[in-house]
This record gives sequence, C-alpha cells and structure tokens, in this order.
Amino acid sequence: MRFPKNFYWGGAIAANQCEGAYLEDGKGLSIQDILPKGLIGGYTEEPTDDNLKLQGIDFYHRYKEDIALLAGMGFKMFRFSIAWSRIYPTGEETEPNQNGLAFYKDIIKECIKYGMEPLVTISHYETPLALAKKYNGWANREMIKPFLHYCRTLFTHFPQVKYWITFNEINSILHAPFMSGAIMTPPEELTEQTVWQAVHHEMVASAQAVKMAHELIPESKVGCMVLGVTIYPLTPHPDHVIEVMKQDRKTLFFTDVMARGKYPNYAADMLSKKGIQIEFAPEDESILKHTVDFISISYYSSSCASADPSQGEPSGSNMIGYLKRNPYTKVSDFGWQIDPQGLRFTLNKLYDRYQIPLLVAENGLGAHDTLVPDGLNDYTVIDPYREEYIKEHLLEIAKAIAEGVDVFGYTYWGCIDLVSCATAEMVKRYGFVYVDRDNSGKGTLKRYKKRSYDWYKKVIETNGESL
Ligand code: BG6
Repeated sequence: MRFPKNFYWGGAIAANQCEGAYLEDGKGLSIQDILPKGLIGGYTEEPTDDNLKLQGIDFYHRYKEDIALLAGMGFKMFRFSIAWSRIYPTGEETEPNQNGLAFYKDIIKECIKYGMEPLVTISHYETPLALAKKYNGWANREMIKPFLHYCRTLFTHFPQVKYWITFNEINSILHAPFMSGAIMTPPEELTEQTVWQAVHHEMVASAQAVKMAHELIPESKVGCMVLGVTIYPLTPHPDHVIEVMKQDRKTLFFTDVMARGKYPNYAADMLSKKGIQIEFAPEDESILKHTVDFISISYYSSSCASADPSQGEPSGSNMIGYLKRNPYTKVSDFGWQIDPQGLRFTLNKLYDRYQIPLLVAENGLGAHDTLVPDGLNDYTVIDPYREEYIKEHLLEIAKAIAEGVDVFGYTYWGCIDLVSCATAEMVKRYGFVYVDRDNSGKGTLKRYKKRSYDWYKKVIETNGESL
C-alpha cells in the first residue's frame, strides 16, 4: 500500500479567493479588498470594481452546493480559511460578529456531515484592513492582542475543529510584506529591520495560539505552514551551494523556531549581518517553546540559487522571482517550474530535520482550461494535464512515505476554481470543478465537473492504488 490507511485526501481554498460577499452580513474590509491585482501593482485606497475577489466565486452564498460537490469526490479533509474581518470587522471589537460565526459554523457542520475533517487556516492573507492601517500590521507588537482574541473566539466556538494552521505561508512575509504581514509601509521605505521584527511578532502570536488551542481543545493539532521553497544550486560551484544554504534559511528559520521552540544557531549571525536586532519581550523565549504539532507546506515548484545574480533566468513562480529558473524542469502555462521530485526531496528534508508529521497543504496546477460539451447536454473540461501533474506529485509523496516520512495528508490547492492569489485572476484555474467566471468578472458562476473530478475521486476511493 502506497498511502497509510487514514491518509487525509482532500482539497484547499482560502476565504478571500472564493467567498466574495466582501461587505455582507457585517464583514469588515480586509487587506485583500484593496489588492485588485494581487501582488502586482500594490494596494488601492478603496475597493475597486476590477477586484475579482470582492465577488470571488460567490462561495459565501453557494458553499452548500460547493461542499457537496467536493464531498462527491470522497474528500477526507477540507482546508478553508476564516476571514478574520468576518468575525471581527475591524479586528478590535469586543464581541464577534454573530453572522460570521454562523457562516463558518455551518461550513464546519457541512464538512462533518460528509465525513470531511475540517482544517482551518486562521490567517490566510486576509488581515482586517483596519488593523493594517492602525498598527502597520505585524510590524507592531500590538497585533498580537487582537489576533489572540480572534483565536480564542474560534477555538471557543468551533471545538469540533481538530486541525488548525495559524498563518498561511508564514515565511512569505519576507517576499510579500503587505499581503502576508499587512505592513503598509511602501516597499521603497520598508526596512529589513521592520520586516524581521514583524516575523518575530507573528511567531510569538503563533506559539501563543498553539498553547491556547491545546488548552481549549485538548485533542487539537496545530500546525505551521510555510511556502515550500525548494532550492537547488544553479551549478555545483561551491559558491552556489553556499548561496542555497543562505536562501534555505529564509524558510527553515520559520520551521526551526516553530517546530523546535527557539531561534536557531545561525539566526544571530544571519540577522546581525543585515544589521537587524530583534526586540524580544521578556516572556517571548518561554512562549516560543509552544511548538507546533505538525508542519504543513505549499509546494508548487523548485528553483535555483546563484551566488552571482547575473547568472540564470528569473524563476517564474509565485513570490520567488528572486530565485533562478531550474533549467531541468518543465513549466506550467503560467511559467511555474514543475518538479515533482522536489516535493519528495523537501518532505524528506523537513522530516529528517524535525521528525514531526507533515501535511502537503497546497499543491496544484494552474492552467488554461477550456469548457467543452460533454456529449450529455452539459459541459466539462478535459484536463489530462492536471491529472498528470497530480499523479506525478502523489507518486513522489508515496516515495517519501516509503522512505519513512510521516506525511498524513494532501489537500490539493484550489480544488474548485477560484481567484488566483498572486495575480488575482480567474483565467488561471486549479480546480476539479470549473466555475464560469472570466477575468473581466463576467459569467454565470455555474459549476461544471472537469474530467479530473472523477479521476481524483478514483484516487481517493482506491487510497492511491489507482495511480
Ligand atoms: C499559495 C497561496 O502561495 O499559492 C494560495 O497560499 C495561492 O493562496 C497559491 O492561491 C497559488 O498561487 P496563485 O497566485 O496561482 O493563486
């Protein structure tokens, strides 16, 4: 058997990329509501009509239909995020928004009804805008208080949820300080000192959330989540290898702190070389000791590091354009390197280092899909490329498992088409379910099963044997 008996097969989405209803039922503005083009072009003063996330795929009104569709594939786990500003519109109300709580309560109920374990991301790039404006996001230690107030509300109201992730891709704050860390300082004025201090605040907040979850939901499992940046040297030249070591630490620093409970050996030197001094509150050292129960990663591609920036082509993938393209990999329609073996490599590397369970919380192929008649009076998408991509990655996960790595689940990213994160578009589609909406926001929003829907269903039904 390639996969363990209780392997969590499933899929993942995030609130800001699918819910829409951006001001409905008491929701406050989130930072995503002023990011019409994702990572490109920065934020606007007010929400603008060209921001596809304001309507998303209308999951807010269609979640029952959507969850039923996903459950139809036999999902064992469904990862979604809670929009913080739906619970606390400005982040600092004393009482939560009851409509927001009711919405997520019902989502959880639907998951449980279909036998899907809910996995909740507490913060997936959707900090309340008011907190970003008031505090400059995580640059300010004051953010810890409203975050923990929000966490307490979630843990108190949703004790049925056993699996939690504190911050989506927590290391991405280094690459996207506004989207990831709600830091409003313009990029040209932002210092590394501010960003790394924000990193510290998030990690302290995360560790306190782990502690709180364990107290309020004793059987809970709380994980960290990192953008799984897999890096190879551009050539075997020792300079490039040393560069990999340096670049790797931009990711491993986070897992080191969150899984081992303290700053790693190399931190002092790495930070002081950048002239950074992290301000620790007296209690921080002991707070950080509340380590995570599992590590989760997003994994889409691998890249290369070069000691000489003029060598190599820029990497095509989301947020890691500062790295170099791996010349030995294929690329997706959107220029992202495809490297299934890199996933096996990364899982082994993390497990060798930490020896705690791992979850592939995101992996997926963003592609151009075409809706065609299915011959039965309906429409579908014929997407063998998606099946192939997933198959290759799952087989590499299976190899890692055979090598002794404890991987307990796979939640395919964007299991239903949604608005992309980095470029905020609909045309880049990940889902097993097609959603009729285009880049100009037009479409009926009707859902259609793609061919990969039945394919993934079979993979789940056979616990991976059909691969
Ligand atoms: C991850 C994010 O970085 O990549 C997701 O956690 C995102 O939110 C995914 O959607 C794919 O990136 P994109 O830009 O193609 O949506």
